[in-house]
Amino acid sequence: MSKILVINGPNLNLLGKREQNIYGEKTLEEINKELEEIAKSHNIKIEFFQSNYEGKIIEKIQSTDADFIIINPASLTHTSIGLRDALLARNIPSIEVHLSNLWNREEFRRKSLISDICIGVISGFKSLSYKLALFAAIDFLSEKNRKNI
Ligand code: DQA
Repeated sequence: MSKILVINGPNLNLLGKREQNIYGEKTLEEINKELEEIAKSHNIKIEFFQSNYEGKIIEKIQSTDADFIIINPASLTHTSIGLRDALLARNIPSIEVHLSNLWNREEFRRKSLISDICIGVISGFKSLSYKLALFAAIDFLSEKNRKNI
């Protein structure tokens, strides 16, 4: 059974309370529950990890046995060479996710240090961004499994 790891970075534990006009009203727990149901119905294992600490996220990427990573690095998107290096080291297919549209906000949010090493980027659909990423991940994994047969 394929496994997907969903990583959320700093301050995303505050979803539902934090700047609702930008990030939406759902809590991270509610978002994860929806993802869990979708994964279950596709016979896919899913694991969730959130941390406010760069090092903990890097250690999670180093040690995961997941076949696919969906990651919203939050502020680390724009700053963390360490995160980029961890993803490069593991070379696990990944999708970058953002609730907000990085291109209609402050200029500094337009720069991501991981977009070019991910399969794709989904940005601007609030909590739906995660679902879109999950559907893309499931499609990627089923295509990969089909080719291995
Ligand atoms: C974010 C966008 C980042 O710029 C910001 O620092 C976040 C959340 C998003 O999901 O829209 O914390 O990654």
